[in-house]
Amino acid sequence: MNIKVFDWEEIIVEGLAKIIIPKRELFIRPDGLYEPAWSPVFYNPLMEFNRNITVLVTITYFNKKEFFFIEPLSGTGIRGIRLALESNGYGYINDVDPLSYYYMERNISLNSLQGKLVATINEANTFLNNFTFSGIIVDYIDIDPYGSPIPFIDSAVRPLGKKALIGITATDTGPLTCSHKQKTLRRYGVRCQKVDFSKELGLRILLYNIALRAASNDVAVYPLISFQHKYYYRVFLKTARRGNESYKVMDKCSGYILYNSENLDREFIKEPNEVKVNGQKTQIIGPLWICPLGDPDFIKKVINEGTRQEYINRETINFLEELVRETTINQPYIRYDKLFGLHKKNMPSINTFIELIRKHGYEAYRTHFDPRGIKTNVPIEILHEIISSF
Ligand SMILES: C[S@@+](CC[C@H](N)C(=O)[O-])C[C@H]1O[C@@H](n2cnc3c(N)ncnc32)[C@H](O)[C@@H]1O
Repeated sequence: MNIKVFDWEEIIVEGLAKIIIPKRELFIRPDGLYEPAWSPVFYNPLMEFNRNITVLVTITYFNKKEFFFIEPLSGTGIRGIRLALESNGYGYINDVDPLSYYYMERNISLNSLQGKLVATINEANTFLNNFTFSGIIVDYIDIDPYGSPIPFIDSAVRPLGKKALIGITATDTGPLTCSHKQKTLRRYGVRCQKVDFSKELGLRILLYNIALRAASNDVAVYPLISFQHKYYYRVFLKTARRGNESYKVMDKCSGYILYNSENLDREFIKEPNEVKVNGQKTQIIGPLWICPLGDPDFIKKVINEGTRQEYINRETINFLEELVRETTINQPYIRYDKLFGLHKKNMPSINTFIELIRKHGYEAYRTHFDPRGIKTNVPIEILHEIISSF
């Protein structure tokens, strides 16, 4: 089909998709960078990494088989179009904005996906609730909003099948990492504190809130892969529609972090009344997710898939490999510069320090969350001893 591309538009290529968007050069900020929010239809090239991982996760989870999906917040349609072209998905791409609909329709045609993808204009919650009402079972739902995904979680988990997958982006990293404490409390129900592992704290607050809303709809969630990248969080959760299982998840995986700001000790606890403070400044932070952030075996399979795709670069594979290593340790990362600061000692390189921890018989890895962070299972007293003897 011949599709008209106007002179204020351009065609970009991402993965196997070709997408018509308004020309990026028309929306350049004074610092010379493209500003997606100024474009009349939303396309963010910085989210290519997020979409690449989405394609790989869905190929892996559905084992290359066909799956039915909804992308209720779709913008140009690029994510859903890539799912249809690259990972055997079919379904609906939707946006509340009529101009997005105009682009989604043309982009479906440009990629010859008529019959596999349908574009619609609806408010996302209404659209998702229509699926629940009609009893249509969905295999995968992708929630990729501006800001917080919380307003969409209840309606997103309801149409999912007995066993399904959900992918969720959150760009409200300020409240999640505790930079806006009032918003953290009203949006996520957490009285948070500044900690040295704030980026991981944000992910744990997000996962807890997703799990809680899912459980209140009798859906159990299990994180397969969760990470922070640039200015957003992305999580993929396996879901199961069983009230009893969702209770077990909440019982096992919701809790608090006991954080000692004097020696940087951190410990997961189930109930605040388990606290032993020993006269030191100790804060209880939560409720939040205290189980692992992902499944290392699943991430290994995603890497395997990634190495087969031409458009997945070495940087993405390295990122996923780091995620596999650090996901094996559930303890929140610790900032080694803060630790050395407490001892007023000069720091070795982070890799030298990690080697030293390993020589003492413990596991230690770098973390994608923070270049100064270490994921380790060494108890805090021993960590302090190691630094004292350094
Ligand atoms: C971050 S963009 C989506 C980007 C897209 N998923 C991608 O990968 O390029 C969010 C989109 O959600 C749409 N939107 C915002 N609120 C909505 C709502 N309540 N219902 C449906 N669409 C909505 C916006 O028009 C915008 O296109």
